[in-house]
Amino acid sequence: MNTTDRELWILNFYRNSELHGALLMGRLARTLSDSALLVHVTKHCATEARHAAILSEAIVELGGTIDPHVTTVQERYSAKGGVPTALVDLLVLSEVLEHRVLDTYRAHADRPGIHPVVERTLRAILREMEEEHEGEHSGWIEDELERHPHAQVEAAERKWHEVDVAVVADLQALVDARFTA
Ligand SMILES: [Fe+2]
Repeated sequence: MNTTDRELWILNFYRNSELHGALLMGRLARTLSDSALLVHVTKHCATEARHAAILSEAIVELGGTIDPHVTTVQERYSAKGGVPTALVDLLVLSEVLEHRVLDTYRAHADRPGIHPVVERTLRAILREMEEEHEGEHSGWIEDELERHPHAQVEAAERKWHEVDVAVVADLQALVDARFTA
């Protein structure tokens, strides 16, 4: 079963986005000062880096090329909503992205005719995300946000949800324009 350029581009997009998420969490792990929070961001960094590694292996297993220059989901969100610098902004964006990734990988894994390597890869990541979702992987973000002013959290949620809707439409158009020829 052959993998199309479109599929390989999408896998690179997932891979680079996971890595971008790991690097963001890694930056927090080098800058925050609360020890409990530092445990969470360090583990979250490791999880996202592992997802990037699993996707890297899948691309190679499929005979594809890893392209570190393919855009990331975070770059698409920042292009519309700006680069988040405040912790609340960063954490809310991480949560919005977490949900977006879950929805995207689930829909992709359920697609008819999916390559078995792609399905196995996405389901492995999904299993981990679903197991950890109730636990610490992103549950800690909700806990942390409760410690910040409600109005600030709500404003960030409104903003990133709007950006989320716009980015999903744009991304679909981007992939279609690139590969519908
Ligand atoms: Fe991830």
